[in-house]
Amino acid sequence: MTSQVLTLVDRFEQLTEHRQGHIMRVVSVMEELARRHRLDVELSRWAGFGHDLAREFRRPNLTLEAERLGVPIREAERKEPLLLHGPIAAKWFEEAGLGDGSVWQAIRLHTTAGAGMTRMAKALFVADAVEPGRSYAHRPQLFELALEDLEQGYRAVLQDTWTYTLSRHLSLHPNTVQAMMEIQAQG
Ligand SMILES: [Fe+2]
Ligand SMILES: [Fe+2]
Repeated sequence: MTSQVLTLVDRFEQLTEHRQGHIMRVVSVMEELARRHRLDVELSRWAGFGHDLAREFRRPNLTLEAERLGVPIREAERKEPLLLHGPIAAKWFEEAGLGDGSVWQAIRLHTTAGAGMTRMAKALFVADAVEPGRSYAHRPQLFELALEDLEQGYRAVLQDTWTYTLSRHLSLHPNTVQAMMEIQAQG
């Protein structure tokens, strides 16, 4: 393994147990979705492993790290720097040469979704929401749906994200709006 990859493994080891547990459950859901939907299992596991590696950075450090890496910071990310944790981790993977474009896209968009997501990106968006550590009532049904039909599972999780965001009067990220417009246009 290259030193940059080892750095990523170190970053995992520095996370809280709570976060490590979540990440490892997402890795195993990704494996299950990958086998069911014929995605690359190894790459899917890496996407799951990487998605929250920057999630415990404090907000000011997320902004600094994004600036250092040249990750774009838009108005939404200025208001809520936590939104940068996906794009930052994606850039770490890219710089380490770990994974491929679809892994990086999956990590980058795992919080907001977005237009033009690959099936791996859709799987990660779903896996983050349906891993067994989540406790909302219809989680098992969503997981089942995603195992049967990845696209329908993705749409259901996106719809949930949309409804939740609006119900809490939070602002929608432009990527989420684009993702929603895309599925509406596809019918
Ligand atoms: Fe995340
Ligand atoms: Fe996560």
